[in-house]
Amino acid sequence: MSVTDYVEQNQERFQAELFRLLEIPSVSTDPARQGEVARCAEEVAAQLRAAGLEGVEVKETGGHPLVYGQWLGAPGAPTVLIYGHYDVQPEDPVELWTSPPFVPTIRDGKVYARGATDDKGQVIAHVKAVEALMKAEGKLPVNVKFVIEGEEEIGSRNLAPFLEKNKELLKADVLVISDSAMFAPGKPSIVYGLRGLAYVQVELKGADSDLHSGVFGGAVPNPGFELCKLIAQLKDEDGRVTVPGFYDKVVDLSAQERSDYARLPFDNEEFRKELNVPGLSGEKGWTPLEQRSARPTLEINGMLCGWTGPGAKTVLPAKSMAKISCRLVPDQDPEEIARLLAEHIKKLCPPTVECEVMSLHGGKPWVTPREHPALECANRAVQTVFGEQALFVREGGSIPIVVDFQNILGLPGLLVGFGLNTENLHAPDEHFDLGNYQLGIRLSIELMRELATYKASRL
Ligand code: BES
Ligand code: ZN
Repeated sequence: MSVTDYVEQNQERFQAELFRLLEIPSVSTDPARQGEVARCAEEVAAQLRAAGLEGVEVKETGGHPLVYGQWLGAPGAPTVLIYGHYDVQPEDPVELWTSPPFVPTIRDGKVYARGATDDKGQVIAHVKAVEALMKAEGKLPVNVKFVIEGEEEIGSRNLAPFLEKNKELLKADVLVISDSAMFAPGKPSIVYGLRGLAYVQVELKGADSDLHSGVFGGAVPNPGFELCKLIAQLKDEDGRVTVPGFYDKVVDLSAQERSDYARLPFDNEEFRKELNVPGLSGEKGWTPLEQRSARPTLEINGMLCGWTGPGAKTVLPAKSMAKISCRLVPDQDPEEIARLLAEHIKKLCPPTVECEVMSLHGGKPWVTPREHPALECANRAVQTVFGEQALFVREGGSIPIVVDFQNILGLPGLLVGFGLNTENLHAPDEHFDLGNYQLGIRLSIELMRELATYKASRL
């Protein structure tokens, strides 16, 4: 049987097996779900074994475990390290889901569940591709190693040390990741850049306890109000971040990149309508596509202060809190930006309230040369499966570990995803197009075939 027929004929089982993973609430940030995360790792390992991978192990990392598996039966051929994550973001606000987040439900050719597109559906497509090749052809065109981790959504803090300790085990020629999106349905993209991240939490404290806002308001500082004033000063009228030194290391897009960006099939007004937002905003002088992927940003991720329950309560809050993060571009450094941001916030804070800024986590930005031969292999695979050229884009999201794979193991990163940015990742009603699951399996097969001719080329 041809490998394509095998994929076709096993479509329903491949879906059922993906659903088994989607049923497990592997929310890495939630300590109460630690057992579920471990159970998910076991299920991933079982599917790796069933695919014909060898040496499959759930490996302890000091945090949530990662799953390793390999097949090294192609001596002389390149070794492809496939990375992905089986952990997911929290499901809340759970009341906004149409069907329960951990009951995979098909509607209109898409499976709805937390983690469907980010990243269980995408990573398991590679596992099914291995199974199909092994069953149909008895071998793979390349050697493969899988590293599927359980802490990507919380900053992968134990993965870099794992790479350091396992350099020999993880020796490979190229890193393949499917944890990003296609540019648009039917238009796959090869991602050659990712933004980095610097994430801080700001806490302001006024009086020792909440107070009656009539009795005390007017004389006693309000940490909610001070926090708003402070945050309002973090960007200027042109949408530029005001933190001194913030842009110092930013490498601007080249003229070539800007003209390539301008040719991407993207309509700002359609984008606005799709999100149902009254208007777009962003840094002056850059297009929305550029703002979303190649310019640094500062965003409020959440705020907490005073009475937020139903109805009115006349209270003068004792505390306020905001979570603020910056997406970074080369060559900004996450630690430096977190420090500059903390210093600036402290300077803006009036002496009438106490201010504390904590750095939560971060990640380095990444770009790779678009003409890298590994990316060309992916482009050929895309053409075989989708019948058209891949689009080369930079993405706004972050996968900080890509830089570690590059620095610690010398691996060039090849990011080709088959999710869609409209699939509600990190949001209610996350879903994954089952047609793209199928195409992803076929793309992975073609990619392995193309990479068989890849000559390791270090960056
Ligand atoms: N899959 C995403 C990153 C992503 C999304 C890349 C869309 C390209 C396009 C990943 O799972 C993720 O959400 N990463 C976090 C990283 C953070 C926790 C360090 C992110 O970007 O917020
Ligand atoms: Zn994610």
